[in-house]
Amino acid sequence: MTNEIKSAFAMAEDGIDPNIVPKKPLNNGEKMPVLGLGTFGSDSVSAAEVSDAVIGAAGFGQRLFDCASVYGNEREVGEALKIVMDGGVPREELFVVSKVWNDMHSDGDVIKSCKQSLADLGLDYLDLYLIHWPFPNAHPPGCTVESLAPDAKPYIHEAYMKSWAQMEQLVEAGLVKSIGTSNMTIPKLERMLPDCKIKPAVNELECHPHFQQAELFDYLVARDIQPIGFCPLGSPGRPERDCTPEDTVDMEDPVIVKIAAAHGVHPATVCLKWAVQRGLVTIPFSSNPRNYTANLLSTVTEPLSDAEMAEIATIDQGCRLVKGQVFRWRDDQSWEVLWDLDGTIST
Ligand SMILES: NC(=O)c1ccc[n+]([C@@H]2O[C@H](COP(=O)([O-])OP(=O)(O)OC[C@H]3O[C@@H](n4cnc5c(N)ncnc54)[C@H](OP(=O)(O)O)[C@@H]3O)[C@@H](O)[C@H]2O)c1
Repeated sequence: MTNEIKSAFAMAEDGIDPNIVPKKPLNNGEKMPVLGLGTFGSDSVSAAEVSDAVIGAAGFGQRLFDCASVYGNEREVGEALKIVMDGGVPREELFVVSKVWNDMHSDGDVIKSCKQSLADLGLDYLDLYLIHWPFPNAHPPGCTVESLAPDAKPYIHEAYMKSWAQMEQLVEAGLVKSIGTSNMTIPKLERMLPDCKIKPAVNELECHPHFQQAELFDYLVARDIQPIGFCPLGSPGRPERDCTPEDTVDMEDPVIVKIAAAHGVHPATVCLKWAVQRGLVTIPFSSNPRNYTANLLSTVTEPLSDAEMAEIATIDQGCRLVKGQVFRWRDDQSWEVLWDLDGTIST
């Protein structure tokens, strides 16, 4: 890991004009690029390396950055964004996302946390702000996956709506253009949507060929809520503690490998093209210039055929990687409790 941030920004000669990267219209009239750079460095990529990637990717034409206070690097990402804007990229061209963490859901805290993210990122507004998880259960960094937060709670609708009301206030105050949810389920959205003054513009969900979440995806599209897919490559760099023996590897799937060979591209490109053509906004992480440039390029090169899209639709393995077990509220529960698998909100 290196800890020094690049100080120079330049548009790459072989970069992409950001205007040709397709955008998705949101339900409030805003528009969002179809592919962004994730900024969660897991345990292995330093804040300075993520910051370097933001500068390098922006120089290649990347304009969407998926940030969060819990990623612990918003100050360094903010330094990178300043370098990018000082280098000539107008603020309005950028689309910056942040998220409120689970320990900041209470009265006044959502607004406080958003203001802190704005200060760290060096911005006076966010393009999109999300409630990261629908539980107020925070765990100390580096804790084991078996540990629970003290006072951990299930989803409590009235409490969530109080947090959502603060999200709405952020829009009204002009600090945030769009608001959305993350890691929600259909039963929770069914409960939430009738009670919103401002409907979520997006929902961020885990989505990759081995975990397609078709029912939730269709539910969101039918309600004009833009799905943003995280871990689009199957998160090969995730920490060891988040890996289980049952996990499958999207980029090694024979169908993905075969389609990649037919197009002469890396399997990552196939995963990203599949996501975007399906209708997702997708946010792969990379700190490697070769990879983050290839990832953005995938949005403007030859698309997958209908037959290839249909074949990828058949390889879902139901393999959730971000299981969220640290957000359980009782020791005797397994991680499945977070995901309302029986169609009702788990208590
Ligand atoms: N809302 C939520 O709760 C939530 C949860 C998880 C993640 N997220 C967001 O989603 C983003 C992406 O998730 P993720 O980082 O877990 O998983 P991911 O994007 O599926 O995988 C990232 C990994 O893939 C590698 N990679 C990237 N491009 C590649 C390419 N073209 N060829 C080969 N390997 C490539 C990266 O390595 P290199 O660095 O070497 O390229 C990195 O190890 C996060 O950064 C975060 O912003 C949100």
